[in-house]
Amino acid sequence: SVKIGVLTSGGDAQGMNAIVRAVVRTALHEGARPFAIREGWKGAVEGGDLIQEMSWSDVSDILHRGGTIIGTARSDRFREREGMREAVKNLVSLGIDRLISIGGDGTLTGTDELRAEWPSLLAELVEMGEIEQDTADRHPLLHIAGVVGSIDNDLVGTDMTVGADSALHRIIDAIDAISSTAESHRRSFVIEVMGRHCGYLALMSAIAGGCDYVFVPERPPADGWETDMCRVLKEGRDAGRRDSIIIVAEGATDRNGVAITSERVKAVLEEGLGESARVTMLGHVQRGGSPSAYDRWMPTLLGYSAALELLQSDGDPVIIGTRRNRLVRLPLMSSVENTRAVKKFTAAGDFEAAVAARGSSYTE
Ligand code: F6P
Repeated sequence: SVKIGVLTSGGDAQGMNAIVRAVVRTALHEGARPFAIREGWKGAVEGGDLIQEMSWSDVSDILHRGGTIIGTARSDRFREREGMREAVKNLVSLGIDRLISIGGDGTLTGTDELRAEWPSLLAELVEMGEIEQDTADRHPLLHIAGVVGSIDNDLVGTDMTVGADSALHRIIDAIDAISSTAESHRRSFVIEVMGRHCGYLALMSAIAGGCDYVFVPERPPADGWETDMCRVLKEGRDAGRRDSIIIVAEGATDRNGVAITSERVKAVLEEGLGESARVTMLGHVQRGGSPSAYDRWMPTLLGYSAALELLQSDGDPVIIGTRRNRLVRLPLMSSVENTRAVKKFTAAGDFEAAVAARGSSYTE
């Protein structure tokens, strides 16, 4: 019967377990044999115990757990041809030629490289006497499907990446907690949130948390933001507001490309308002803990759909994502390339080009 591998790679995200569970159970339901590739690409490269056949009960009791029970790791060897060749050898020796890859754009790029190089790596393995020609002939192509797991919500073409909703909940809980102590002391707090090059978590948490000011990478503030921010906060105080909360995305910069860090914002506040401010860096708390309801049911649908996709695969590499609350199949590489373009233009301060790159991969 058909064998499907599933792996999680890159930074973990709440809801990855729901995808793994859905993939395993859908595969079993459809008469296929699912294998977990543990510790990300490291598992594919090293093989052995790291590639494990999964049963129905192997994924019991994981839906509500954060992180990924099959582990994730960075693998330098997988970036080299030798490591990729080992991965092909390990997979093909077990008869696995279908792969569901869960991670961010880096993970998906690596998966597509493996797919593209699969035939030539097979040929090298045959030539080296590492596998039989028969084995290579039985699995001439690698079929892949990607599901995007990342709290950053930074993949072009899908409305929500798995984990982003849970991270947002975590941030909102923190904002609520901080605002109660801030109110008591009539204090200003600067809260730094994750998101790498993407301001989604910062912007949405600022709106949902009723915050006073927000800095995101996609829109550096106009020059003179220091004065403007202090004016806005002072007006709020004068109107009776007891707390001020400023959200800073970790990748925020000013118009000159200089980082707007939480410490920098704190210093501006202390200077401009003449009162001491506090900084809270939420860090990996945002990526930990149990997934929200959304990050359980949506990844379940995504994993189910990705497994079916692979079982019926016509060879086109796809990402299973969401658009307007519906599942969509996106062309894998153009989505990843557009995501990279958005990041590149954002970092270079060319926001019009970033917006154009974001729009161009939406397919209905
Ligand atoms: O991509 C997810 C993310 O949590 C980013 O928001 C953050 O910049 C980065 O990973 C942190 O990476 P690490 O866990 O390697 O410190």
